[in-house]
Amino acid sequence: MPALALDIGSYTIKAIAGKPGKSVVVDKVVETFNTNGIIIPTDDPQTEKLVETIGNLISDHKLPTTDVRLSLPESIISTKIINMPRLSDAELSSAIGWQAEQYIPIPPEELTLEYKVLYRPEKADNNEQMRVLLIGTRKTLVDKFIMVFNYLGIEPTLLETQILSVVRSLHFETIDPTTLIVHMGANTTTLAVVHQGELAFVFNHMSGSQTLTKTLQSAVGLDADQAEQYKRQYGLDPSQFQGKVQTALLPAVKVLTDAMQKAIRFFINQNPTANVQRVLLSGGGVQLPGFVPHLANILGTEVMLATPFAASTGNIPEANHAAMGVCMGLLTREM
Ligand SMILES: Nc1ncnc2c1ncn2[C@@H]1O[C@H](COP(=O)(O)OP(=O)(O)OP(=O)(O)O)[C@@H](O)[C@H]1O
Ligand SMILES: [Mg+2]
Repeated sequence: MPALALDIGSYTIKAIAGKPGKSVVVDKVVETFNTNGIIIPTDDPQTEKLVETIGNLISDHKLPTTDVRLSLPESIISTKIINMPRLSDAELSSAIGWQAEQYIPIPPEELTLEYKVLYRPEKADNNEQMRVLLIGTRKTLVDKFIMVFNYLGIEPTLLETQILSVVRSLHFETIDPTTLIVHMGANTTTLAVVHQGELAFVFNHMSGSQTLTKTLQSAVGLDADQAEQYKRQYGLDPSQFQGKVQTALLPAVKVLTDAMQKAIRFFINQNPTANVQRVLLSGGGVQLPGFVPHLANILGTEVMLATPFAASTGNIPEANHAAMGVCMGLLTREM
């Protein structure tokens, strides 16, 4: 049965229809501007606009609506990886609420908690700890988000945080080198480290590629459309436009590379015997010209663009692959 994965970004709404599974068979890939600019509506007019935009996207492209999979924006989520003594599933489920209270800064009456055991030692008799990923979300915000789909007659079959989808889209194996994933959208950048095939750390940075456009607008004196065009065309290329675009962008890019360096340092502090061996870039914003060599130079590691369609077949689009990681990860989940 075909599934539909939706990634409601603040810049574009991305939808992929296809046959889900380990190797996705892609049927349709569509994208439309999110003219509302927001992901979670806060009032009725915003809800109506979002319902209309998504409804039109589905009917214009005849997208399937029986198995609809959604990602939650990282901005309404608090993620934390904790160490605790080895517990069984039953023990964990009774202990987890109390753990969450300590680590997740969302009041209990507002909290929807999900958790996932990342690592459980084989035996309880040594001092090895288990690692659990806690994902806390604000109930009211999730309800407002789901409401949009309920208006369209859709009961989502899967709702998960974006970074889990992105990680799944990359098909990690235990033997893979320790990787920093940089998922850069328009207004958020999520940094995550995957170590021995397992998510070790997640950090959200509340800005993204739109900051670069705004910087260009004010530094070079361009309107929003021109700035967007210059960013995409010239980016960090020093030979273009007398290097003016690059010069203007560099301070804003530095804020992002500083966050990446901080994430790498944090990971190494927690795992002194490990090191980040490569950086994988995901999200629309990472397609900035010259971004890959610039990062390789600053971070001193191998840097690559993620290839979310690598394990799939079917109607794979020509461009903008980097922006499709969330949708592809949602479809890769076997249910
Ligand atoms: N070729 C390109 N070069 C530079 N930037 C690009 C390019 N293509 C897209 N972008 C930028 O990527 C961003 C869109 O990426 P994406 O679709 O991942 O964002 P989003 O999911 O809508 O945002 P968010 O997740 O932050 O709400 C825009 O800021 C856009 O300007
Ligand atoms: Mg996004």
